[in-house]
Amino acid sequence: MTQADRRDLVSLPLESAFLQEQDQPRLVRVQDPDRQDMQFPDIWLRDNCRCKECYLPQTLSRLPQLWNSLDTSVRVRSQSVDAEQEILYIEWSDGHASQYPFSWLRERDFSSANRRRYLRDFYRPEQKLWSGRDFEEIRKVFCYQELISCDSALQQWLLHLATFGVALVKNAPLEMDVLRRLSNRVGFMRRTTYGEEFSVRAQPGASNYAYLAAPLPLHTDMPYFEYLPGVTMLHTLEQSASPGGVNLLTDAFYVAEVMRERHPEQFRVLCQTPVDWADIGSEGDLQFHNIWRAPVINLDAEGRCVRINHSIPQRDSHFSVPLEQVRPWYEAMATFVGLAHEHSSGFKTTPGDVLTFDNLRLVHGRTGYDDTDRNVRHILGAFVDWDIVYSRLRVLRRASSPDAP
Ligand code: OGA
Ligand code: ZN
Ligand code: ZN
Repeated sequence: MTQADRRDLVSLPLESAFLQEQDQPRLVRVQDPDRQDMQFPDIWLRDNCRCKECYLPQTLSRLPQLWNSLDTSVRVRSQSVDAEQEILYIEWSDGHASQYPFSWLRERDFSSANRRRYLRDFYRPEQKLWSGRDFEEIRKVFCYQELISCDSALQQWLLHLATFGVALVKNAPLEMDVLRRLSNRVGFMRRTTYGEEFSVRAQPGASNYAYLAAPLPLHTDMPYFEYLPGVTMLHTLEQSASPGGVNLLTDAFYVAEVMRERHPEQFRVLCQTPVDWADIGSEGDLQFHNIWRAPVINLDAEGRCVRINHSIPQRDSHFSVPLEQVRPWYEAMATFVGLAHEHSSGFKTTPGDVLTFDNLRLVHGRTGYDDTDRNVRHILGAFVDWDIVYSRLRVLRRASSPDAP
């Protein structure tokens, strides 16, 4: 199941049925010999003129003069095509003249096929959702040394992470700078209140619930941040010899889609009830009190899941909603947590593994374990943000296929 399959289940009035005459799109049609004609709104072409007055090549960006007093009534006075050179020429009603190479126009063609291609191949890879049963199929292993030395391996890792939300890196040295070196291959690490790298180890009297040997129920990291870290990386330095210390992972976007289909009212409640996520404490000299108020399931303008918030210990006892919204939220959350368990899969990492996953999409946890004098479970954690990952993916894609749009 992909997110796109489910979009129709949320209907948003994106297009008005009552277009006024003056709102009608005025289209410039461009004949392209080998393919379907392209169509562009005139105002868009005027806005994206490539001449020296309108566009600054050194910054690859639009110049703002036109917008000092944008005349939305500007019209095409005449248009012509140089078929040999493949250039479209336009003269505008305000006297301005523009030219557009066909290659540039083709990349920006408004046809639905081209928009789909751009969104899937260049904006962000399409997410493929999975249930616990499918985990073995989507599970993929990458070699640490290859990620450090080879751009195409780096690209494959990030692509898999973006598509499935989880990827396992193996054979990393048992050294403290592994996550930094991986992050630097992507771009840079994300710093949080817990520093850049953090150690997950059982510490009696720990002030963070994760730093106990107790079972750590399914959660997202740092739901109490408005800008929560996008990708979590967990490097196993020492694994527990006790039966515990097993990681649990669930694709919570899949769970959300199951709820949308089977429990639509509870799905709505989890999308619309804001919850107070909180973390109070200190790290070194820094005292903090973080709160972010947001639903468990967060949707974008097209109704797709974009973020899950969930952490039992880090849900505040403040619940700033009207009384009548409280019980329905608990009912819906009980369904969500039940499904998240049902669709989880578990596996135990070994030293040298780096488990990487999408912290906006997956919920993860860990079973309880016992340390001994000679065996102390030790995981190093760090984050990178999705903006940095997607940017690296686009740059790698351009470098590996320079002719691709
Ligand atoms: C955490 C966490 C997993 C583990 O610290 O937030 O998810 O394997 N740890 O200890
Ligand atoms: Zn211009
Ligand atoms: Zn965690």
